[in-house]
Amino acid sequence: MKFFLDTANLEELRKGAEWGIVDGVTTNPSLIAKEGKPIKEQIAAICDIVDGPISAEVVAVTAKDMIREGRELAKVHKNVVVKVPLIRDGIEACSALSKEGIRVNVTLCFSAGQALLAAKAGATYISPFVGRLDDIGANGMDLIRQIVAIYDNYDFETQVLAASLRGPAHVIESALAGAHVGTMPFKVMDMLFSHPLTDKGLEQFLKDHAKAFGN
Ligand code: E4P
Repeated sequence: MKFFLDTANLEELRKGAEWGIVDGVTTNPSLIAKEGKPIKEQIAAICDIVDGPISAEVVAVTAKDMIREGRELAKVHKNVVVKVPLIRDGIEACSALSKEGIRVNVTLCFSAGQALLAAKAGATYISPFVGRLDDIGANGMDLIRQIVAIYDNYDFETQVLAASLRGPAHVIESALAGAHVGTMPFKVMDMLFSHPLTDKGLEQFLKDHAKAFGN
């Protein structure tokens, strides 16, 4: 499973890039707004840090405007993937942009039926939101499993990008379900490192080594 960072924060991206485990980045209008810079400027800066697919989301809501905005965003860098919401106009824009060779990530997916629409429209990625489904008492991970199964049945090339992952368990379950990508906040990626037995084991190794050979 590929690891994407779900952030527009350059410091977090630099840290993730240093670890060498970040395959790409997803952003959304809320994450861009948090950084306070215009989207094209922020996306260009992100592309300088991470060499992989970088999702940049349109804020237009009509197909015509989404296509125009998507084309502009795609010009920022060859790694830009245009993100559109899963509404009728978004699917129309996805079809048009995909036909032009622009990669599209269809976001705000909350049902398998919606995921089918995105695949039919030639999306490169579909983004089902696990955490937000859990928040309303549904089972977000069931949706990942359904979409992976449906796409497998028909050999759709659209990749399942498990989004809105809130903790390590979501990441592990997405990988078990066969999601192609998991996008996660920096905090969640950082949490994947932690295990008390790792810390305890390392402490003991270093202590034993120092006792025998000095520091
Ligand atoms: C995905 O692309 C979204 O940016 C993101 O995963 C949403 O996560 P949230 O529900 O934690 O805001």
